[in-house]
Amino acid sequence: TPRIPLMAGNWKMNLDWKQGQALVEDLGDALKGLDSSKAEAAILPPFVDLRTVQTVVDAGKLPISFGAQDISEHEEGAYTGEISGQMLAALGCTYAAVGHSERRQYHGETEQVTNAKVKAALKNGIVPILCVGEGLEDRKAGKQVATSLAQVEGGLEGLSAAEVEKTVIAYEPVWAIGTGEVATPDDAQEVCSAIRDWIRAAHGDSAADSVRVLYGGSVKSSNVAELMEKPDVDGALVGGASLKADEFAKIVRFQD
Ligand code: G3H
Repeated sequence: TPRIPLMAGNWKMNLDWKQGQALVEDLGDALKGLDSSKAEAAILPPFVDLRTVQTVVDAGKLPISFGAQDISEHEEGAYTGEISGQMLAALGCTYAAVGHSERRQYHGETEQVTNAKVKAALKNGIVPILCVGEGLEDRKAGKQVATSLAQVEGGLEGLSAAEVEKTVIAYEPVWAIGTGEVATPDDAQEVCSAIRDWIRAAHGDSAADSVRVLYGGSVKSSNVAELMEKPDVDGALVGGASLKADEFAKIVRFQD
């Protein structure tokens, strides 16, 4: 079965709830009639917008999936400020990003925490979007594949092949995030194919052929098509360019 491209818009810490509501409504208009066999659009708004997004998406039956930018590793209880997988599942979240480089950098998320969050998502029927990718130093030293694979291995530790099959991996070189400096299609393909090869070796053909591997880092409507030409790039994790409905819709409709 061919992998359906996934274009996921990570709003990060932007927009208030009214602006978020307006954006998802505009996006619904811009994506009307989207052929779901050609591409899937997903948005990852801030936690406080999830209920609003759910309401708009459900009311309009819009061709948009949604999810969270993070998920607690814990199930429930005295974890002030955390949001559980149960809560996200009850809201209809399809996805949760895990291990985004901004979580690793600014919130000290370790490989162990990332792995626990991947498991918490799967336990609650949520698809984890495991984010991996090298920093500038590692890129300069030619260690982009080794660094990214170590994060894939750490994030997926202890999962069965059937569980791995349900995950999404996002390769996001840190130097390309929010910098306007997009990786070349060949750079993206190099690491995305290495990730798929690793999954094939560790978990078999079915998992390797099913997992969608996204590229993230300064993706725009003007560069998405050439990235998507690469055989192991199955979609994009989009930050800045997901905050404008027309621009994000163009990214989702990259084949038109
Ligand atoms: O999650 C999204 C990525 O961090 C990419 O962000 O498109 O603003 O570079 P960006």
